[in-house]
Amino acid sequence: MDHFVCKGQLFFSTGPDHCQCIPHGFLVCTDGICQGAFPTLPDAYRDLPLLDFGDQLILPGLVDLHLHGPQFAYRGLGMDLELLDWLHTHTFPEEAKFQDLAYAEPAYRQFTHALKHSFTTRAAIFATAHTEATLLLMDLLDESGLITYVGRVNMDRDCPEPLRESDPKAALEETRRWLDAVQGRYHRTRPILTPRFVPTCSAPLLESLGQLARETKLPVQSHLSENPKEIALVQERFPDASCYAQVYDRFGLLSTRCIMAHCVHSGPEELALLKERGVFMAHSPESNTNLASGVAPTRRFLEQGLSVGLASDVAGGSSLNLFRAMAHAVQASKLRWRLLDEDTPPLTFPQVFWLATLGGGRFFGPVGTFAKGYAFDALVLNDRLFPTVLPLPIEQRVERLAYLAEERCLTAKFVSGRRIL
Ligand code: GUN
Ligand code: FE
Repeated sequence: MDHFVCKGQLFFSTGPDHCQCIPHGFLVCTDGICQGAFPTLPDAYRDLPLLDFGDQLILPGLVDLHLHGPQFAYRGLGMDLELLDWLHTHTFPEEAKFQDLAYAEPAYRQFTHALKHSFTTRAAIFATAHTEATLLLMDLLDESGLITYVGRVNMDRDCPEPLRESDPKAALEETRRWLDAVQGRYHRTRPILTPRFVPTCSAPLLESLGQLARETKLPVQSHLSENPKEIALVQERFPDASCYAQVYDRFGLLSTRCIMAHCVHSGPEELALLKERGVFMAHSPESNTNLASGVAPTRRFLEQGLSVGLASDVAGGSSLNLFRAMAHAVQASKLRWRLLDEDTPPLTFPQVFWLATLGGGRFFGPVGTFAKGYAFDALVLNDRLFPTVLPLPIEQRVERLAYLAEERCLTAKFVSGRRIL
């Protein structure tokens, strides 16, 4: 069904501080594209099939701007460690297992199944250094109907041998082999260059990935200024860099096609550089709590006009549920305000809803709201599963979902006009 109309309680962002509700509204899809959200159905669309979802909520699909497929298996474990210890104790040994396709396959099947049944319609995902396993993950995601960027992870220092590429040249060759294999293979899965982060990448590796980004015009994803010990390590390695982001920038890795996860401790100079380059920042509040990284001043980022989206960062974050991530973002910002910085007020609900939809959606193009010309990504949600005697307006029904939503309330999920659930 290429052309159709959905009817229900519509809710979507119109700006970082504004949302719009259309009670019993009509949402029109033609060829995967939203033609708009209307209080009454325009005559031009009268003959299209109508899917009437009654009193259920219809929202744009949520966008997870940063997470790790191979880490799904151990979500919720090892939450007593800080970032670098957690990486060496849990992450690297687990990711090393993806060398073995017999291990990778069930792990990636479980991950893909869970992501398909989550509130996420689009995501930017780290795999591991293993080309075959990364292709397997991309195959599964493509079949799922979700739209994703997936990165084969590059590292050539300070990680265990099975994950460490022998030298920058070998890393580049293997990355090219992966890109050749990906060419023409997918409808919905796209490759993204993925230097893991500065501590595990040599300067020549970052340099060659920067060249590859220029040559192929592929997007880039990595981690930035997440945790104090990580930042100290980067300063030690690159003493002449004026800030962490400047290391990526000198190799040409920062652009509007780049996602940097976290940016918890980015100072004014780093923020100015990220803004100038138009980098997307992936705010991962649950992960930043679990790994004792800190709390990013995300409200300031929005006020400064930086590009920010929301992310689960599984398995730094334990859950794929981006409604919960909205609540975590609000909660973390309140603690930050109370304990650290009275001048930065907490995030509001419209702001976190924006982060989870348009904020990150814009990385994918016109994605994240119900305006004409945007991709038709939509969730239909039955919030009656969470009973209340209160007669709530639509905005409060959606806000409540940030705290209450469980995936069993998902009635339907559309990605680029295709119904996948
Ligand atoms: N920095 C480098 N690798 C990782 C990772 O896997 N997770 C998180 N949260 N931060 C990282
Ligand atoms: Fe991460």
